[in-house]
Amino acid sequence: MKLLVTGGAGFIGSAVVRQAIAAGHEVVNLDALTYAACLDNVASVADHPGYAFEHADIRDRTALDRVFATHRPDAVMHLAAESHVDRSIDGPGSFIETNVMGTFHLLEAARAYWTAQGKPESFRFHHISTDEVFGSLGPEGQFTESTPYDPRSPYSASKAGSDHLVRAWSETYGLPVVLTNCSNNYGPYHFPEKLIPVVILNALAGKPLPIYGDGSNVRDWLYVEDHAEALLLVVQQGAVGRSYNIGGENERTNLQLVQTLCAILDDRRPRAEGSYADLTTFVTDRPGHDARYAIDPTRIREELGWRPSVTVEEGLARTVDWYLVNEPWWRALQARQGVGERLGVSA
Ligand SMILES: NC(=O)c1ccc[n+]([C@@H]2O[C@H](COP(=O)([O-])OP(=O)(O)OC[C@H]3O[C@@H](n4cnc5c(N)ncnc54)[C@H](O)[C@@H]3O)[C@@H](O)[C@H]2O)c1
Repeated sequence: MKLLVTGGAGFIGSAVVRQAIAAGHEVVNLDALTYAACLDNVASVADHPGYAFEHADIRDRTALDRVFATHRPDAVMHLAAESHVDRSIDGPGSFIETNVMGTFHLLEAARAYWTAQGKPESFRFHHISTDEVFGSLGPEGQFTESTPYDPRSPYSASKAGSDHLVRAWSETYGLPVVLTNCSNNYGPYHFPEKLIPVVILNALAGKPLPIYGDGSNVRDWLYVEDHAEALLLVVQQGAVGRSYNIGGENERTNLQLVQTLCAILDDRRPRAEGSYADLTTFVTDRPGHDARYAIDPTRIREELGWRPSVTVEEGLARTVDWYLVNEPWWRALQARQGVGERLGVSA
């Protein structure tokens, strides 16, 4: 397949690009190269004959039309987004512009291209979204594909808006779409403003390990390479108009997660002063911090035969090992605007 991947210089998009090339697909990586992008994430495939890069913004309809006409993809995998909840609290405008308006422009460009092609049934518009659109759970229960939407942050509201647009373009215009809503990803190439890389890198620097609130917030952790594998399965075999929840079957509190990371670091790079866990520091909670997310993955498991390949302990060990040997990669990103600062407390 020839895949047009938006946001392919980001964390998850780059994993999709690397896996898609390895699986023999052609890939056009369309990315605006915002602060969150890093072309080093796709350096391993940059010279592959099946790979092309387009520096373009999904809010730019003219550029999108040119990319569709030039590359004539079989499917779109739409991952480009503003993705950091804390940044959405401080500056929601760019989240609405990219996640809502950008998705609108991409849908319209895809629809024009698909229509000009004679509306092939085999075309796919795969929209990649988050479990945060479903809101927050209590101690029991899991999100299913029919859980009502209840977004609570500017980020999740903008993603919910984009999900609604994608479904409307399917119902109204017949555009063959598939959607996925996944839980929190982690793994190699995770941008160093998100919890797991922050904890690893602060620990290595002997700095405090910040835990929002009391650390009781629960997330269902999904290893990024497992997620990329699921996405490539859905774009090829998912039923048109259907959505699939993708989770890691790995629920942990944030405090448990940090303790596990500290134990791995204690093993890999012992600290003379004692355990890395001694650096744990509780900080002011994020406004509107959702208590718990958990995914019911029954549909993707039963219909497409996918399930995660690693436990969170295995995935975290691989992640720590990756950060230990890729210091030049994360050092360069730590210099970017806002990284290392506490964001999202101004509500
Ligand atoms: N990371 C997670 O845990 C997670 C969980 C659920 C869903 N998601 C979704 O998965 C997708 C990818 O997430 P990620 O963590 O890889 O994000 P990321 O922030 O690492 O990467 C986003 C990429 O999109 C690009 N981009 C941003 N605005 C753009 C625009 N206007 N035009 C073109 N490109 C633009 C950026 O340059 C960057 O390369 C997002 O849609 C996100 O909402 C992420």
